[in-house]
Amino acid sequence: MTKEIERDVDEILLTEDVIQAKVRELAVQVSRDYQEEDLHLVAVLKGALIFLSDFSRALSIQATLDFMVVSSYEGLGNAGEVRILKDLSHSIRGRHVLLVEDIIDGGSTLSTVWKTLRIREPASLKVCTLLNKAGKRKVEVTPDYNGFVIPNRFVAGYGLDYHERYRDLPYIATLRKEVYEHF
Ligand code: IMP
Ligand code: MG
Repeated sequence: MTKEIERDVDEILLTEDVIQAKVRELAVQVSRDYQEEDLHLVAVLKGALIFLSDFSRALSIQATLDFMVVSSYEGLGNAGEVRILKDLSHSIRGRHVLLVEDIIDGGSTLSTVWKTLRIREPASLKVCTLLNKAGKRKVEVTPDYNGFVIPNRFVAGYGLDYHERYRDLPYIATLRKEVYEHF
């Protein structure tokens, strides 16, 4: 079945099968690395929502989940400024935290969230990102678990949006240029 919004899709970069295989692969690695620990997953909403839900269910170990909402103000003269709109519900002190991200682009979001979490003294703090746009960094950040390195193009789907749309596509794609002309 095709959704109406799929007409806006230009090129599918990562199909549903390819994404799901990678999610399972990452889950195997993380399950193995954390088998002796209580894993606490922290996701940055909304982009990481879909990835987190598939990833957490693919783990063979137990994990607890918590969420943060951040916003960045790119293009408003504050490039790279990141604000926390919703903080975590639970303390991470002494916990083994894995920060789950949808995409690392310039690196500001991850870097800010990472620093915010680090000072709260978790037992460990690592990063798992589904997508990594290498070559576009403003701030250097290196994820511990890396799904796909993708070219420097705007993508949508599987949690990633363009003006809040396309998050509900099961694959990751570029959009037709006409789509960008509407906004
Ligand atoms: P960074 O702070 O520049 O690393 O940007 C990370 C955030 O920008 C992500 O959490 C996304 O919300 C957004 N973002 C970056 N690249 C894309 C993209 O290609 N598609 C959709 N959102 C993106
Ligand atoms: Mg976004």
